[in-house]
Amino acid sequence: MMRVPALLHPFARPAATDFIRIVAGEGAQVVDDQGNRYIDALASLWYCNIGHGQAEVAEAVAEQMARLACFHTFERFTNGPADALCERLAALAPMEGARVFLTSSGSEAVDTAMKLARLAHAVAGRPERTLMVSRRPSYHGVTYGGTALTGLPPNQEHFGPLPGQVVQVGKDDLDGMAALFAERGHEIAAVIAEPVIGAGGVYPPAPGYLRGLRRLCDEYGAWLILDEVICGFGRLGRWWGAEHYEIRPDLVTFAKGVTSGYVPLAGVLVGRPVREPLEADPALVLRHGHTYSGHPTACAAALTVLRITEREGLLDRAVGVGQRLAAGLDQIAKDGLVAEVRGDGAVWAVGLHPDRDALAVRDAMLARGVIARPIGVSAIAFCPPLMIQDHEIDRCLDALAGALAEPAATAPERP
Ligand SMILES: Cc1ncc(COP(=O)(O)O)c(C=O)c1O
Repeated sequence: MMRVPALLHPFARPAATDFIRIVAGEGAQVVDDQGNRYIDALASLWYCNIGHGQAEVAEAVAEQMARLACFHTFERFTNGPADALCERLAALAPMEGARVFLTSSGSEAVDTAMKLARLAHAVAGRPERTLMVSRRPSYHGVTYGGTALTGLPPNQEHFGPLPGQVVQVGKDDLDGMAALFAERGHEIAAVIAEPVIGAGGVYPPAPGYLRGLRRLCDEYGAWLILDEVICGFGRLGRWWGAEHYEIRPDLVTFAKGVTSGYVPLAGVLVGRPVREPLEADPALVLRHGHTYSGHPTACAAALTVLRITEREGLLDRAVGVGQRLAAGLDQIAKDGLVAEVRGDGAVWAVGLHPDRDALAVRDAMLARGVIARPIGVSAIAFCPPLMIQDHEIDRCLDALAGALAEPAATAPERP
């Protein structure tokens, strides 16, 4: 029997021994240690919008590291890259007067948003507002707050007890949400929603749904948190899903695209209605923060990635990428190879026929030089780097069609 590696892999079978070692990346392609080249059809994990191998980011990071690699931002300390990045993000924010709290991961951003939502209500004299509302399905990360909010029961199994005061309502069920608000509206701190549900299956919102959420939050005095960890920074053709769907959030969680994953960085845009109660008492101390909040090297990477995103016109490119991908997937559906196509902007998924297993389809695509992501047993997701070339999109589509043209493989063993 092969020895398991020392690295205990996330979202993998602890007993697994069969790994693909990625050694290099350029543009929308990565290479493994056997010399196999793949199209990265999920931008690594929904994040590498600018593509791999952009030397400018490496240079900015090296320059920052040579000057000041690290220093914290607790209490009275700050640094230039953190300040510059937050000014830039506040100017880009989909709400007026936002400030920015920095973390290293999307899960930390979600926990931060949850804590700030409760804290702002508490210090404003509404300590009874502790209830958090999320949707099923949804994905909000793996910290205990994020796990409690995530609407995927297998991700919660055996990790309990989870933080309490979390209620979930089905996606797009505005009537169910209205009923919950009618019953418990005075207790609700915030509703959290991804503009397009990503890792939960790639589901865009029903028309008018997000605006309906906004109306309910306004009517009952709850905050609306948009979890833009996937949708932010151009995935839907605008900086934010909030702009794409014309919604004003109170808090926005972001990660991934802000650095395209070159260095871990994430955070929360904190809108005026949430930050003002925190600022009202000059003696109040925000007892929350991570060692690496405002890490200068990560912030230098983010500033460079945002410059590249703008210079390369990646927001506009997202629209064209999405159109070509969606048109190709629609054709595959017309050919009867998949049951459903869903998505928006440059994030799409196909729903498989019941005799197909997503892991087996993914493996057959890998053999054709394309890395796509299986979601559950029945969907394959596409979320490519926004600089992907047309011929590379076509290779993703050919690999999917080719994999589905193979006789249905038996499902591999699941974790
Ligand atoms: C919408 C959303 N929120 C939160 C997270 C968690 O982010 P991280 O994996 O960086 O902790 C993710 C990760 O995929 C996500 O897609």
